[in-house]
Amino acid sequence: MIEDIGTNGTSPSKTSPDFNRTNQACGSTVSFHSIQYKVQMRSGFFCKAKPNPKEVLTDLNGIMRPGLNAILGPTGSGKSSFLDILAGRKDPLGLLGEVLIDEAPQPPNFKCLSGYVVQEDVVMGTLTVRQNLSFSAALRLPASVPQREKEARVDHLLRELCLTKVADAKVGSQLTRGISGGERKRTSIGMELIIDPAVLFLDEPTTGLDASTANSVLLLLKSNMLVFILQCVFTVCTQDGQSWSNYNHVHPPAALLHLPAV
Ligand SMILES: Nc1ncnc2c1ncn2[C@@H]1O[C@H](COP(=O)(O)OP(=O)(O)OP(=O)(O)O)[C@@H](O)[C@H]1O
Ligand SMILES: [Mg+2]
Repeated sequence: MIEDIGTNGTSPSKTSPDFNRTNQACGSTVSFHSIQYKVQMRSGFFCKAKPNPKEVLTDLNGIMRPGLNAILGPTGSGKSSFLDILAGRKDPLGLLGEVLIDEAPQPPNFKCLSGYVVQEDVVMGTLTVRQNLSFSAALRLPASVPQREKEARVDHLLRELCLTKVADAKVGSQLTRGISGGERKRTSIGMELIIDPAVLFLDEPTTGLDASTANSVLLLLKSNMLVFILQCVFTVCTQDGQSWSNYNHVHPPAALLHLPAV
């Protein structure tokens, strides 16, 4: 079920395939049409195993306009699979339907123009917060961007993400204590914001954080809507919609998509 979607089921024209940086001025609209996703499971023992297809997503249609857009559902309901599909990161095997960005198919370089913060953070524990952001800048920004500009972007992000105080602290790992959970999450968001993405996808940015830290991450995303990103799609794991209702009044999203349990 998707809320606040007025144009479900319509077939938009595909006459504007020029998804580029200028679209960022007003934000990008993501729409999805007749999305179905099946995976091939196998049941039984080794050579006697029989293919057993499992339908993960069934006939999803909707539009996500610029703003915060949330995908809700219990564990295993297909939130990560759907986010991968919207971000153009899913193997087309077993996938039907189409995703349009500003009414045109995703361009081949969509992965470079969008940011994706995965469910399990990929920050490097042995590096400092600044080194992680600089590493992302070196990898993700074109070689034509001067080093001084890359450093300036890192400094700007550290300020925006309130990470200046821990900029030179090691992130740490499960074995060695480092920065806090919220700081770690903000660092992994910063690693994606470095490219100024037109659309930012986040898989469960609040999971594992206490209510106050989760709230600060959502506030951060909301405040950065004007500075960096204009379109943000994220997933939240909910059993009964209760946990999202805590934030819904504070951070009303542009659209809410509820995925039922599989
Ligand atoms: N490639 C795959 N092979 C087998 N099963 C898969 C595959 N991809 C997804 N699934 C199954 O599809 C269902 C949805 O998975 P998905 O990771 O999208 O759920 P989720 O809502 O993100 O769950 P969680 O909240 O626990 O992260 C799960 O039951 C998962 O096992
Ligand atoms: Mg998931």
